[in-house]
Amino acid sequence: MKVRSYSESDEAAVAKLWREVFPGSPWWNHPETDIQRKLAVQRELFLVATIDSEIVGTAMAGYDGHRGWVYYVAVSPRRRRQGIGTALMKRAEEELAKLGCPKLNLQVRASNEEVVAFYRKLGYEIEERVSMGKRLATEQQYPEPTVGALIFDPEGRLFLMKSHKWRGKYVVPGGHIELGERMEDALRREVKEETNLDVHDITFLCFQEFLCDDDFWQPRHFIFFDFACRTNSTDVRLNDEA
Ligand SMILES: CC(C)(COP(=O)(O)OP(=O)(O)OC[C@H]1O[C@@H](n2cnc3c(N)ncnc32)[C@H](O)[C@@H]1OP(=O)(O)O)[C@@H](O)C(=O)NCCC(=O)NCCS
Repeated sequence: MKVRSYSESDEAAVAKLWREVFPGSPWWNHPETDIQRKLAVQRELFLVATIDSEIVGTAMAGYDGHRGWVYYVAVSPRRRRQGIGTALMKRAEEELAKLGCPKLNLQVRASNEEVVAFYRKLGYEIEERVSMGKRLATEQQYPEPTVGALIFDPEGRLFLMKSHKWRGKYVVPGGHIELGERMEDALRREVKEETNLDVHDITFLCFQEFLCDDDFWQPRHFIFFDFACRTNSTDVRLNDEA
């Protein structure tokens, strides 16, 4: 077993491990988004444990100049009680100590007795504190209304495009509604930006709720307003979204 820093090619395996180890996490703990954030700050303190080439554990540490913190300490359920969690924590402690960090803090849900036992074994003690937190404005604050266009050509064919924001799936063009913009105008603008197509005969079809599903690349709450429309053009020019 080895412990090393995370590399980009680990993303799918790490996200899969976290979804297995932390089922029912709140939507804001979105693995791919959390990984991207960590890569921007002290990425060398994001550790993975491997056996052969398999990712079997993770630990995400950081030093804020006063204390070190650790999150996402996770070991595959099939690989527990083999010292992997200990090895990850030891490496995190060593890396933090190298930076001059005098103390490592961590939070565990009070009901998680097994994890408390794990940390006690490693020398951590329960300290009487009240844990407080506040979500900052980098997160989405409200659901976002968006428009989607089911575009039909004169032969009745539906336009679909592959989007990296939807994990390479086929989607219909569309996007956000700007302040002061009518939905039909937003639809025309979004379709033009994403496909270069001009649409007409716009009719409302339905709305759909989208609550932070993993299908989208970021955790987002959308309300989709879907419209059917027509185009006579075949001059499709995709922008960078598709
Ligand atoms: C906590 C966790 C990371 C431990 O990983 P691990 O690789 O199994 O831990 P180790 O093998 O290094 O265990 C070291 C010692 O911790 C203690 N320990 C570990 N798991 C324990 C458990 N389930 N119950 C009681 N003690 C435990 C034992 O003393 C163990 O030594 P031993 O096996 O010789 O008895 C792992 O159980 C896990 O991923 N849990 C779910 C995720 C989680 O809640 N993480 C914490 C979020 S902050």
